[in-house]
Amino acid sequence: MKLPILLIIIHLSSLACTFKILYLVPFPAPSHWYWLKNFSEELLKRGHYVTAVTSYRRPQPHPNYTEIIIHPPYNFSDFPASDFFSMKFNTVVNNLFLTWDVGLSSTEHAFKDKNVAEFINKTDLAFDVVILEQFFHDSWLPFAKKFDAPLLTIATLGHADYLDNAMGLITPSYVPHHVLTFTDNMSFYERCINLFWRLTDAFLRKYYYMAKMQEMADKYFRNAFNGSVPSILEIEKNISFRIINSHHSLSFARPRMPALTYIAGIHIKPVQVLPADVQDFLDSGSEFGVIYFSFGSCIRSVDLPEEKLLAFIETFRLLKQKVLWKFENDTLPNLPPNVFIRKWLPQNDVLAHPNVKLFLTHGGIFGTQESIYWSVPMLFIPIYSDQFRNAKRCVDAGFAEIISFQELSVQNLHEKLNMILDQNSYSNRINLVSQQFRDNLVDPMEESMYWIEFLARHKHHYPIFKPHSTHVPWYTYFYLDIIFFAIITLYITFALTKYGLKKIWQSFDTEKNIKQKFN
Ligand SMILES: *[C@@H]1O[C@H](CO)[C@@H](O)[C@H](O)[C@H]1NC(C)=O
Ligand SMILES: *[C@@H]1O[C@H](CO)[C@@H](O)[C@H](O)[C@H]1NC(C)=O
Ligand SMILES: *[C@@H]1O[C@H](CO)[C@@H](O)[C@H](O)[C@H]1NC(C)=O
Ligand SMILES: *[C@@H]1O[C@H](CO)[C@@H](O)[C@H](O)[C@H]1NC(C)=O
Ligand SMILES: *[C@@H]1O[C@H](CO)[C@@H](O)[C@H](O)[C@H]1NC(C)=O
Ligand SMILES: *[C@@H]1O[C@H](CO)[C@@H](O)[C@H](O)[C@H]1NC(C)=O
Ligand SMILES: *[C@@H]1O[C@H](CO)[C@@H](O)[C@H](O)[C@H]1NC(C)=O
Ligand SMILES: *[C@@H]1O[C@H](CO)[C@@H](O)[C@H](O)[C@H]1NC(C)=O
Repeated sequence: MKLPILLIIIHLSSLACTFKILYLVPFPAPSHWYWLKNFSEELLKRGHYVTAVTSYRRPQPHPNYTEIIIHPPYNFSDFPASDFFSMKFNTVVNNLFLTWDVGLSSTEHAFKDKNVAEFINKTDLAFDVVILEQFFHDSWLPFAKKFDAPLLTIATLGHADYLDNAMGLITPSYVPHHVLTFTDNMSFYERCINLFWRLTDAFLRKYYYMAKMQEMADKYFRNAFNGSVPSILEIEKNISFRIINSHHSLSFARPRMPALTYIAGIHIKPVQVLPADVQDFLDSGSEFGVIYFSFGSCIRSVDLPEEKLLAFIETFRLLKQKVLWKFENDTLPNLPPNVFIRKWLPQNDVLAHPNVKLFLTHGGIFGTQESIYWSVPMLFIPIYSDQFRNAKRCVDAGFAEIISFQELSVQNLHEKLNMILDQNSYSNRINLVSQQFRDNLVDPMEESMYWIEFLARHKHHYPIFKPHSTHVPWYTYFYLDIIFFAIITLYITFALTKYGLKKIWQSFDTEKNIKQKFN
């Protein structure tokens, strides 16, 4: 008697836990997908049905996984390597426009894809949650509205003030703009610069970037919404939850709205077996250690200007350490004997090898986190976007150094490499931060899954965490209406009092005059 009831309960609870999830990842950079596919894989492991819009095919088909493949993938040729290496993105404004422009063009490319267009036309689908990578494809926000499902976003590059603004939080004077390298202790001059860029960003984002995104949404969702596509700025305010690639061990203390969580390190997995030749090379470096050198997946070492390429080669020749270099060519003329090149390397497993003593990196967010996790001090050569900020934080934390790409030479590269390799302070500092980075109340993947499933379970009551500040105008937010009212009240009181006193004085004066006349 009891057993069937138990079975029914188990059956019901397992049914209740299976959701249909739409996973939108239009951005084509391999490093993003390499990170983001961990979420969809985990959802599948938990028995959910996942429909993913992405540029990458899953190696093996899965019965619960539906792919809408953007094909051919977006071609980054509008953003050539020469622009990166000429340090075109060394300024705040160029970095803002880089992310916006790459976002606008890759989003439009994805919209034009036949598979995506067919998917937008579908009317027979239903989802419990819509997940969107919150990089720079805001014109995809209406998918949540189309399927009338709660929306969760994943902010790949970490916390930023435009995320706060949409959540009804205008962060105060001690939070630097996300592409500036200031700390939270800013001088008067730095606060001026910070305020300037925050206002400029807010203005340009609304009237340039989001306006173009809205145009795009209006165009491609026109049929889906019978011509009246909702405002993406409004949908943005309705995002129910945000999963942010930041970690408290590496961020300033900053105010946070309730509907978000930090999950950095989510992608880091136990070590796997390395290719035999890479393993042998790393093992052979036990005496002096190995330097691992990579510019990541978007920038390629093979595109380096000749002069800088030679600077690297000649510096490595001077070292007693071995160097493992992610270099995208089979051969490199004049390669010193202590250097090993390979077109692609399993970075996480390489950094986990105990002989790796230093990571020479551009400062991409995923590599920086992997290096912290495996306690490998870093020498940064930042090139664009968040890399300057990531580098500065690690330098300030005492476990990294930085070289500007323009000034890079055999002399300063050699000097900084030796500085890090010869002193224990860098590895001591990173060991401490690494321990904090690994020490979480809940496993970050577990926590992300909790929030996705939470939204699916409560889909008819969202958004529950939306603060009232998303509804109020800016002058109310900053108390300016009350200040204005107080000033007016004071002014009126003052004016009335002055007028009254004047009248009394006048009447007193007239009385005196009359008296004088009659005397
Ligand atoms: C697909 O989803 C169903 C329902 O959750 C589950 O029972 C099944 O095991 C899943 N299949 C795979 C291969 O994970
Ligand atoms: C990208 O576009 C450029 C220039 O239009 C072309 O030369 C290149 O072959 C394209 N790359 C791919 C992978 O299609
Ligand atoms: C989507 O629907 C619209 C209007 O019905 C139609 O004009 C368009 O060709 C459809 N697109 C695709 C890819 O099916
Ligand atoms: C903030 O920076 C100033 C100037 O660099 C320094 O004097 C002060 O001690 C710093 N304050 C804190 C709390 O770190
Ligand atoms: C669009 O209009 C058609 C016919 O007027 C209607 O059947 C359909 O429900 C509408 N769709 C939406 C999303 O409002
Ligand atoms: C945002 O959510 C509110 C409910 O809080 C709803 O009334 C409104 O229509 C939503 N706006 C959009 C554009 O989805
Ligand atoms: C994340 O994805 C990478 C790449 O597929 C995979 O090797 C790794 O095991 C995943 N990490 C976790 C924690 O599942
Ligand atoms: C790449 O390899 C080719 C031969 O395979 C060689 O001619 C070329 O110089 C290499 N490029 C660089 C930048 O080393």
